[in-house]
Amino acid sequence: MLDLSTFFLGRPLTAPLMNASGVWCNVNSQLHALAESEAGAMVTKSCTLLRRDGNPEPRYHTLTMGSINSMGLPNEGHQYYLDYAERHDYENKPLFFSVAGLTLDDNLTIVAQIQDAYTPALLELNLSCPNVPGKAQIAYDFDALDVILAEISSAYSRPFGVKLPPYFDIAHFDEVADILNRYEKVNFITCINSIGNGLMIDMESETVLIKPKQGFGGIGGEYVLPTALANVNAFHQRCPKKSIIGCGGVNTGEHVFMHLLAGASIVQVGTALYEQGPDIFVRLKAELAQIMQEKGYKTIREFQGKLKTL
Ligand code: DOR
Repeated sequence: MLDLSTFFLGRPLTAPLMNASGVWCNVNSQLHALAESEAGAMVTKSCTLLRRDGNPEPRYHTLTMGSINSMGLPNEGHQYYLDYAERHDYENKPLFFSVAGLTLDDNLTIVAQIQDAYTPALLELNLSCPNVPGKAQIAYDFDALDVILAEISSAYSRPFGVKLPPYFDIAHFDEVADILNRYEKVNFITCINSIGNGLMIDMESETVLIKPKQGFGGIGGEYVLPTALANVNAFHQRCPKKSIIGCGGVNTGEHVFMHLLAGASIVQVGTALYEQGPDIFVRLKAELAQIMQEKGYKTIREFQGKLKTL
């Protein structure tokens, strides 16, 4: 019998699939739909200390091979997601809790409250949002990355993970992995957030497609698949004690298989989930199972992280 189930930090998952933070997870109705979907795990919208409206609309646009977004962290504030986390059915599937505080102090306040709430939710610290005007992506500033990991590691008593932006240079993979490997509590790494500050143009009107930041926004969907796979594999190789969550460019079972082969333990779905809704997990599971059957694999473990080189 073909088995799609897997484990993540000791927690059982029915399938190595979940949403990417920001997609289908802003409000309770969406979170409940994910809880009832075939996703093996789920994550809440990256939250800030207080509720935010986010950037002016239009702030998301579908592109030929993906999407551009500059949402600007619209969210209900951390307490709303903590309330959900306290009600979530953890027997059904693990819950990740995404945090994107606007300052170090905000992050420290939020993680202290997660700790006090005693929820088994797993913290995913988003260090890579490209869309808040005036705020740099923390994980592109390696000194700031080191400081925030040191501070969160001493304030938070449990294992946690970080959501990284894409890197494009081998020296950067090396340097970031060295920093992450200094922090034992960093148990997982989610690669990648959207490719920040892309630009797309409408030919007819000769204008940008989204309003914030003069049209600049994070690119997701199939455009980013090779970059996502490279980041997954680079950190899988360099951080052998940490688990990798793959994110970027996933719209078919083949894409899921590639992420798993490159070293991901779970694969997140962003743009394609936004476009198709939570039923996508039914199709992705069926397509992944079909590929495994054709290749003669009975379990995920048989091929996960086993990418071959030439
Ligand atoms: O592409 C993204 N959009 N990545 C994030 O981390 C946040 C989100 C937003 O709200 O802008």
